[in-house]
Amino acid sequence: MNETIKNILERRSIRSYKTAQVKDEDLELIVRCGLYAATAIGKQPWHFTVLQNRELMDKITAVNHKLMLNSSIEYLKAMASQPDFDSWRGAPTAIIVSGDGSKFATADCANATQNMAVAAKSLGLGSCYMGAFSPALLHPEHKDFVEALGIPMGYTPIFALAVGYSAETLMSRAPRKENSVNYVR
Ligand SMILES: Cc1cc2nc3c(=O)[nH]c(=O)nc-3n(C[C@H](O)[C@H](O)[C@H](O)COP(=O)(O)O)c2cc1C
Repeated sequence: MNETIKNILERRSIRSYKTAQVKDEDLELIVRCGLYAATAIGKQPWHFTVLQNRELMDKITAVNHKLMLNSSIEYLKAMASQPDFDSWRGAPTAIIVSGDGSKFATADCANATQNMAVAAKSLGLGSCYMGAFSPALLHPEHKDFVEALGIPMGYTPIFALAVGYSAETLMSRAPRKENSVNYVR
């Protein structure tokens, strides 16, 4: 099995991290892999924010905690009810991928996030793809967060990737769903 296939197959979502920070050269490579994801009509409708400011990360977590506990969406409530709730899963770095609202921006940002997750794996780093980090950033009363993150006007945070050195003991993986592939030859 080649290394690319191995990294795709062995990537897992990591939700517990060591405190050691990701090396800048690794981070640059990871972001570069995001920037080289496929995009519809080559639009690159995104902005990447590399977040390593723990104080700001904690402030966002605190607002998310409040908003998610009051949410009518059950899985958000359940996430915020966890005793060690942290929007960044305790990772020292998060890369926020924001989209420009164009038709395929969400798909393109997803491609970038997955590329970065596989790149992180190939560099010996853990990562966690995240969608539930953004209630605070989307809330009209918390525009200051978007400003502090330097997300350009017209862009909306869609996904984030937590990145760091894994401190997790992984459980066995969910089996793949049956009958989800057919071949027509
Ligand atoms: C669009 C998307 C959003 C996700 N959001 C979260 C999240 O907010 N928090 C989290 O811990 N994991 C999140 N995940 C990770 C999934 O839970 C995870 O990929 C799934 O359980 C399969 O596990 P694996 O990544 O280890 O294969 C998200 C994954 C995707 C693709």
